[in-house]
Amino acid sequence: FQPKVLAGKRVLITAGPTFEAIDPVRGITNLSSGKMGYAVARAAREAGAEVVLVSGPTALATPHGVRRQEVQSAQQMHDAVMAALNGQHVFIGVAAVADWRVTNASAHKMKKQDGAAPPQLEFAQNTDILAAVAATTSVSGWPYCVGFAAESENLVEFGAVKREKKGIPLLVGNIGPHTFGQDDNTVILFDEDGHTVLPRADKLTLARQLVSEIAKRIDRSLLT
Ligand code: C5P
Repeated sequence: FQPKVLAGKRVLITAGPTFEAIDPVRGITNLSSGKMGYAVARAAREAGAEVVLVSGPTALATPHGVRRQEVQSAQQMHDAVMAALNGQHVFIGVAAVADWRVTNASAHKMKKQDGAAPPQLEFAQNTDILAAVAATTSVSGWPYCVGFAAESENLVEFGAVKREKKGIPLLVGNIGPHTFGQDDNTVILFDEDGHTVLPRADKLTLARQLVSEIAKRIDRSLLT
């Protein structure tokens, strides 16, 4: 049983990897399974929220009662998030968004030719969706923004710095480089007061704890 700590709240979540096309049949992606983002969506729904999940390509089923919008590229994810942002109380960026997109993608399948030089890809940096959402909160105070960080070293130090850099009240750090695709995770929550470790558990358990930590912080900020 989950208490309905987010009843009446609207929550927007990104999850999964993105896919950056090289040509119509090829692209660049990453090893995010989407499991953590989908677990957070499920936990937020269980907690009574109205949940929109903007998801890159994954093999996962949509959690019960969650509205899912599928996207491929980081740009599509950014546009879908911005279009859905109005009226959201919480934004949780769990997606592993590609840092770069290919600017010279081919409209047709590239052909391999004997003796020809391989294609040269060119890249441009993608917009940081989380930072863009966080930058909108100065007007109404909403949405409460939560980010994720997967660092392979010095997480405690980098986590605090990343939270400030992104301009968000809460950052969730994954411990260890091997969380992609796994069912278990250990996470550290960074907020303005410091950091708290949530011990190793399955992703749904951690997602439920995260949802209750978010609800606590929202309630606290509404009181002050
Ligand atoms: O900067 P870094 O990629 O480590 O930050 C990770 C956090 O920022 C995650 O919450 C991720 O969803 C979000 N992010 C984003 N858009 C990007 C890059 C990261 O929303 N282009």
